[in-house]
Amino acid sequence: MKLLSLNRPEHIELAASWLGQKENYQWLDFGSGRQLITPALLKVMAQRETHVIRVYTSEDEDIPIGIVGLNDVELGFKTATFWGLSGDKSFRNRGYSTIASSKLLTFAFRELGLHAINTWAVEHNPSIRTIERLGFRFVGRQRQCHQIDGRLYDRLIFDLLASEHMALDEERWFRRERGNREAACEEREAQPG
Ligand SMILES: CC(C)(COP(=O)(O)OP(=O)(O)OC[C@H]1O[C@@H](n2cnc3c(N)ncnc32)[C@H](O)[C@@H]1OP(=O)(O)O)[C@@H](O)C(=O)NCCC(=O)NCCS
Repeated sequence: MKLLSLNRPEHIELAASWLGQKENYQWLDFGSGRQLITPALLKVMAQRETHVIRVYTSEDEDIPIGIVGLNDVELGFKTATFWGLSGDKSFRNRGYSTIASSKLLTFAFRELGLHAINTWAVEHNPSIRTIERLGFRFVGRQRQCHQIDGRLYDRLIFDLLASEHMALDEERWFRRERGNREAACEEREAQPG
């Protein structure tokens, strides 16, 4: 999987088309209640220092299948707000969004030097499980501040510190390495002679 900067016109169009789908934008808010993002605005956002927006690919490293992003990147306070969406539905529920999110968080903590990243999700949004899987901690509930189809919902707020992400990141890395070593051993044992 690769995370690609949002600088190719066809990727901006594709990402904006995902953001234009109600099943995605109903859960988001890009500030002051703005949910619809045009390709032109997305291009501007992607160039701003206050945003880090990446499209992620599957194993086919040329074709984007989703977006992960940071809004309100504040290098002074070392903070940002995380968001994401899975664009190509055929790749949902296969772990891609979790991996892409984890990679973006590693970039944010290691390369940008951020210290604390927050995120939020509307209550009942299944993405809460992904947020928790990434190690985010629930820190509070903002009541009845999000509207979908005229109904009010709470937003659940989470945050993650650099040290917490790094611990989880390394744990995952060790697990994967151990898995690889065990697979190599089994392969050797299975070989005749
Ligand atoms: C939230 C969203 C980004 C998740 O995308 P996704 O690619 O389906 O996410 P993942 O595949 O990483 O995880 C989803 C499920 O796949 C499962 N999964 C299957 N194979 C997996 C693997 N190899 N590794 C990890 N998870 C795997 C996970 O367990 C998870 O199930 P669970 O959430 O019931 O526990 C997507 O549903 C979406 O675009 N929603 C609309 C926008 C939105 O709500 N964004 C969040 C607001 S910030």
